[in-house]
Amino acid sequence: MLKRSGTGIAITGSGSAAPAGILTNDDLAKIVDTSDEWIKSRTGIKNRHLATASESVCQISTVAAQKAISMAQIDAADIDLIILATSTPDDLFGSASKIQNMLGASKAVAFDLTAACSGFVFALVTAAQFIRTGAYQNILVIGGDILSRWVDWSDRSSNILFGDGAGAIVCQATDSGDRLLGFEIYSDGTKNDCLTLAYQGGDRELIDGISIAKGAYQPIWMNGREIYRFAIAKVPEVIEKALFRAGLTADAIDWLILHQANQRIMDAVAERLNIESEKVISNIAEYGNTSAASIPIALDEAVRAGKIRSGDLIAISGFGAGLTWGAAIFQWGDR
Ligand code: UT7
Repeated sequence: MLKRSGTGIAITGSGSAAPAGILTNDDLAKIVDTSDEWIKSRTGIKNRHLATASESVCQISTVAAQKAISMAQIDAADIDLIILATSTPDDLFGSASKIQNMLGASKAVAFDLTAACSGFVFALVTAAQFIRTGAYQNILVIGGDILSRWVDWSDRSSNILFGDGAGAIVCQATDSGDRLLGFEIYSDGTKNDCLTLAYQGGDRELIDGISIAKGAYQPIWMNGREIYRFAIAKVPEVIEKALFRAGLTADAIDWLILHQANQRIMDAVAERLNIESEKVISNIAEYGNTSAASIPIALDEAVRAGKIRSGDLIAISGFGAGLTWGAAIFQWGDR
C-alpha cells in the first residue's frame, strides 16, 4: 500500500460497472430506420448496455468505486473526497453524497461535477488540485452516466450512440513523484447549442405578476457533424498541449484512451498524433458512448486485462457538450 503523504498524485486503483441489459444494433433497427452495417461502419458500435428502472447512477457508480477501492488496497473510510462526474444524476441536488453513504466513506466530502463527456478528465484535474495543495490524501473520482434515460429513442441520428455505465479511480497522495505529468482543459460556450439536454419551461403565474418557469428537461439534441468536426480539430491539439506541459511528445505514450464517442474519431486522432493503432484502447463496440464513464471503463478494462501496467504512460482525452474538452497525461500505478 502507498504511503499516504506528500503532494504528488498516484493513481492506484480502478473499477467499472455496466448494467446487464444489452441493446444490439439489430435491436435498434426494430425501433428506427437504421442497420447494424450503418452503425458499425459509421461509429464502431455494436452493443450498448442500458439500465432498467431498478438500476441507478448511484448503484453502478458504487460497484465501480468498490472495485477501485479494493484495487488500491484502501478502506472506504480512508477516502477524503468523492467527485462524481455525471450529467445524469439520480437527483438534481447531486448523487455523490448518496454514493458516499453506500460506500461507507463516512469521512469523505462528496460532490457532483458536470462537464458532460469531458467530466472524467475535469474531475481528475480537480482531484489533483486537492492533493497538490496537501488538503486531501485519498480521492475517489467516478464517471457515471445513465444517458438512456435522456435519449430521444425516435431520433436515429443520436440514439445509436449512447449507453450506460460507470468507471472509477482512486487518486492518492505520494511523496515519491507526481504521476499526473500534464493536463489542459477548455470550454467554448459559443457552441453550447450543438449538444444539449436542456430544461425548457413555460411561464406559470404563481400570483398576480409573479411567474416561474414550469417545464421539464428535454431529450438529448445533437448536431453530430459539428461535434465530429470539433473533436477531430480540438482533441489532437489538446493532447499535444498536455504533452507539452508534461515535457513529452506523442511517441512516449504507451496508451491512448479517448472518450469513446466514435471509432472514426479515435482513429483520426491517433493518426493525427502518429500514435499506432495498437496503442489506442477502444471498447466502444461493447458500450457505445457512456459519457463521463467511457474513459474510466476503458482504462479499468485495460488494467484488468493486464495491458496497462504500473509505470505505463497514458494519455486520456474527453470532449463533448459544453462544449468542453481536455486531456491529461499520467503514469498508471504507484511505481
Ligand atoms: O460525446 C460526444 C457526443 N457526440 C459525438 O461524438 C458525435 C460525433 N458525431 C458522430 O459520431 C457522427 O456525426 C454520427 C455517427 C452521429 C453520424 O455520422 P455521420 O457520418 O456524420 O452521418 P451524417 O449525419 O452525415 O449522415 C449521413 C447519412 C444521412 O443520409 P443522407 O442525408 O446522406 O441521405 C443520414 O440521414 O446517414 C443518414 N443517417 C443514418 N442512416 C442509418 C443518420 N443516422 C443514421 C442511422 N442509420 N442511424
